[in-house]
Amino acid sequence: MRVFVTGASGWIGSAVTDELLAHGCEVVGLARSDRSADALRAKGATVHRGSLDDLDSLASAAEAADGVIHLAFKHDFADYAGAGRTEHAAVRRMLDTLKGSDRPFLLASGLAGGISGRPLTEDDALPHHGADSMRGGSENLALSYAELGVRPVALRFSATVHGTGDPGFTATLTRIAKERGVAGYIGDGANRWAAVHRSDAARMVRLALENAPAGSRMHAAAEDGIPTRDIAAAIGRYLALPTASVAPEDAEAHFGWIGRFFALNGAASHARTQEVLGWTPTGPTLFEDIAAGAYALPG
Ligand SMILES: NC(=O)c1ccc[n+]([C@@H]2O[C@H](COP(=O)([O-])OP(=O)(O)OC[C@H]3O[C@@H](n4cnc5c(N)ncnc54)[C@H](OP(=O)(O)O)[C@@H]3O)[C@@H](O)[C@H]2O)c1
Repeated sequence: MRVFVTGASGWIGSAVTDELLAHGCEVVGLARSDRSADALRAKGATVHRGSLDDLDSLASAAEAADGVIHLAFKHDFADYAGAGRTEHAAVRRMLDTLKGSDRPFLLASGLAGGISGRPLTEDDALPHHGADSMRGGSENLALSYAELGVRPVALRFSATVHGTGDPGFTATLTRIAKERGVAGYIGDGANRWAAVHRSDAARMVRLALENAPAGSRMHAAAEDGIPTRDIAAAIGRYLALPTASVAPEDAEAHFGWIGRFFALNGAASHARTQEVLGWTPTGPTLFEDIAAGAYALPG
């Protein structure tokens, strides 16, 4: 099976590429730089040069593939609305190309901020619609193509997809704790984040490519909800720093861009995903990774 993977050079995408190659797929990875192209070739993937802004290029690669896994995203938190609009246009163009083909189109989505008061389930639709909404409303846009001859699947990743080398949210929180001399959480820190190890997330993506039904939402969540004050405490223990609450009105000044995400609720169930895909997470927990030094800082 020939699979076009956008974001194949990223944190999750490089593990997904390894997983697909190990299971006999041909991976065609989108690369916007020589560095990313070289990294993909070194793994044994084929390179498709292009970017999220080059819609014709995305369409031609999607057309030539048996399936698409869309993991690229402009993580430009200074222009998050612009990133969402790019996402919307890219997803729409690839899906229009696949209309009527019955081919799979899997796209990255997130669990943070979906719902408050209880864990998000695989039945819960996100409230984001349209290019100007969060992540360009791309999850709902993609799932609507189940009626149009595509097998769209939302891959809802935990707020922290953790592991050694993770450059994402937990790494950023660790760096900020070191800089501030305190491991902070926002308010009472009762809001919870789901978590998954990168290797488990990559396996879930491969299983979803093989078996997830059209229009389904799959939760890459091994731990369904860790209070953010406990995440701060684990970082504090590792760095030998105190843990403290940061008032919500001071969150942006203390945490910068990540403050708005660390305040969100990201708890999620994963029972349906495990049942439908036969997926059993086996990797380390977030706290095991933190304690083992997965987030060791240089110097
Ligand atoms: N990691 C998490 O904890 C997490 C949690 C929830 C959701 N997600 C979502 O899961 C997806 C994958 O996340 P990740 O952590 O693997 O992200 P990442 O490490 O930042 O990788 C992003 C990928 O997107 C590519 N990319 C960025 N801008 C592009 C552009 N303009 N044109 C073409 N490619 C572009 C990057 O290419 P280069 O190699 O050239 O930079 C890279 O391959 C994203 O949609 C992300 O929002 C991640």
